[in-house]
Amino acid sequence: SGFQSQLLDGLSKLGVPSEVLDVLSKWIGASIDYPKIPEAKGAISAIRSEAFFIPLYELYLTYGGVFRLTFGPKSFLIVSDPAIAKHILRDNSKAYSKGILAEILEFVMGKGLIPADGEIWRVRRRAIVPALHQKYVTAMISMFGQATDRLCKKLDAAACDAEDVEMESLFSRLTLDIIGKAVFNYDFDSLTNDTGIVEAVYTVLREAEDRSISPIPFWEIPIWKDFSPKLKKVNSALELINGTLDDLIAICKRMVDEEELQFHEEYMNEKDPSILHFLLASGDDVSSKQLRDDLMTMLIAGHETTAAVLTWTFYLLSKEPSVMLKLQNEVDSVLGDRIPTIEDMKKLKYTTRVINESLRLYPQPPVLIRRSLEDDKLGEYPIKRDEDIFISIWNLHRCPKRWEDADKFNPERWPLDGPNPNETNQSFSYLPFGGGPRKCVGDMFASFEAIVAVAMLVRRFNFQMALGAPPVKMTTGATIHTTEGLNMTVTKRIKPPAMTVEASSLRDDSSINMRRDAV
Ligand code: HEM
Repeated sequence: SGFQSQLLDGLSKLGVPSEVLDVLSKWIGASIDYPKIPEAKGAISAIRSEAFFIPLYELYLTYGGVFRLTFGPKSFLIVSDPAIAKHILRDNSKAYSKGILAEILEFVMGKGLIPADGEIWRVRRRAIVPALHQKYVTAMISMFGQATDRLCKKLDAAACDAEDVEMESLFSRLTLDIIGKAVFNYDFDSLTNDTGIVEAVYTVLREAEDRSISPIPFWEIPIWKDFSPKLKKVNSALELINGTLDDLIAICKRMVDEEELQFHEEYMNEKDPSILHFLLASGDDVSSKQLRDDLMTMLIAGHETTAAVLTWTFYLLSKEPSVMLKLQNEVDSVLGDRIPTIEDMKKLKYTTRVINESLRLYPQPPVLIRRSLEDDKLGEYPIKRDEDIFISIWNLHRCPKRWEDADKFNPERWPLDGPNPNETNQSFSYLPFGGGPRKCVGDMFASFEAIVAVAMLVRRFNFQMALGAPPVKMTTGATIHTTEGLNMTVTKRIKPPAMTVEASSLRDDSSINMRRDAV
């Protein structure tokens, strides 16, 4: 086939029109024995009924690291092979766009960083990544602590009243509060307040998730578009959020104009360390739709993902009491009742492994979406442009050949003194934050957020599945949700006496906690 492609190349240089070359290459191609991508057929009915990445796992075990799935006129390539994932995401990333994902998310993210491709993506990535610098992330850690403390107070009340709690929605509110402060210095206060803007955010999120699992784009059907009450509600929610964003941008712009601070690499306004503030100070255009799109993108990207990570981490911990005990021991000795700092992030090694392992078993999102922009080769298989591709992180992370006891929640599989696992040191068999140029910009932020929340919560409470709670099953939108919530019984921990050592350095609010607990 080397000869044929040289021949076609040569002819093209001689000016043979591409239509002719196409015909010629099809004709030659047909005579070459290219390996053909395995096709999975007839399994489609299963896919609509449950979280769709589960049947994809079974098909992967049957058909291997690349296979084609056909639904009527539509077909998808499902990739579960680390080397091919690396090729698409990193080595030849220029040849792939976000495809369907960009189409689905357009209504809410516009050309924000997640759906954007090409030049827009390149320019915005360069503007946004510097905003998440070391000093910013350090400042965020104390904010994570304050937000988690509010959740603790809520759980305190539930524990006193012996009421079960639905943790999934509480985690969603915790991470919404955090991302609002972090991205545009807005306090949703969704842990206590449930109206207006908070409801609007959830309306939009649910719509994005409905669209991502809908077999047909109902939102493009003309009559539907104009008369559907659901779409009307979505549009007014979007209007409310956009209005709020406009206000926040205006307020922030005034602050930036009044401040003396010179813009530099680690620029940060102490009163408002938000990403928005950084972007405006760096010269971002306040009136641009692009800025709003990027803010909305980060709001969504940073909210549901971390909430899902916390949900599944607590689910897993409830199933493995020995892991929970070890985790609590570490937190007791490293942290006690202090609110964590950046130094603690290095010391909370086992806590970090718990999060690493939770991200392996429940990757958020469980699949990455791409579309080929040109002909390419996936392993031994040639593919055409315009192929829609799902990279199943779920399959990569649960491959029985790669992972011992692949389905077991075993943080010990990651040695405490080893490197923090990532896509590079695990050769793309572990990629919770993606990889290559489109890798998550919030990976550090999100890891610390999860570590702070888990550490503070397990220090103060024990968590068990509530008696009589429905079994926890999975369903998908963009991230993995439970079907009926994560209902838990939360009880206050009796703290070990070792903590008095730390007591002298406690802050006021935590010493109140200590006294209350001692009663
Ligand atoms: C992209 C995961 C939290 C902002 C991604 C991607 C993954 C991911 C897998 C790659 C998507 C792809 O290649 O198609 C996660 C997980 C999180 C998390 C598991 C929480 C545990 C956050 C947070 C932020 C954020 C907190 C914002 C501060 C973004 C952005 C992108 C992205 C902007 C797009 C980057 C680009 O295309 O250049 N995330 N993320 N993420 N994430 Fe996150």
